[in-house]
Amino acid sequence: MPKRNIKNDILRILVTEDEIQQIVKMISARIDAYYADRDSRLLLLGILKGSVVFMGDLMKNISIPVEIDFMKVSSYGGGTSSGGSVNIILDLHRKDLSRTDILIVEDIIDSGRTLSYLVNYLKLKGAKSVRTCTLLDKPERREVDFQADWVGAVIPNEFVVGYGLDYDEQYRALPYIGILKPDVYS
Ligand code: PRP
Repeated sequence: MPKRNIKNDILRILVTEDEIQQIVKMISARIDAYYADRDSRLLLLGILKGSVVFMGDLMKNISIPVEIDFMKVSSYGGGTSSGGSVNIILDLHRKDLSRTDILIVEDIIDSGRTLSYLVNYLKLKGAKSVRTCTLLDKPERREVDFQADWVGAVIPNEFVVGYGLDYDEQYRALPYIGILKPDVYS
């Protein structure tokens, strides 16, 4: 039986590997500049699992000292702007965040619920500052008012996978962002 090639499930590539690397360099440079003169600690906080590939590339390109950590949350849409909820599955366990600038690293913003919740949560936990960056932003899907500080690419409301993003836990290892063929998920 021939080996299944997941690339055959991709309708077309939306963000190429080269474009992603340009985005990584652009955002890394902005992070370097923004946090340059601070004497606090900078913590890159990746939100599992989708952010892992972006996080890996980003941390290699940032020149200033950074620490890394991860949280995992699940978000359930509620249909109305106040109806959704976010559950913390893996929390950030650090005692004192008062000298820590947190930069949340996401792969994509859809409804905005995850980041909106996490920014408030981490501020309440006592972080010195909380900022956000995302590789992709799908503003058409927004359900709560949220804007990230650094955005790699604004994309249309297509079913995208790759570079950390999944469908049914597959496709995360693709090196680019691709649009999934509708017959895969319908
Ligand atoms: C995705 C993505 C964000 C969140 C964005 O994670 O990685 O964390 O959804 O959606 P929102 O703006 O509507 O809150 P997902 O829950 O699919 O988990 P995964 O990263 O493990 O795939």
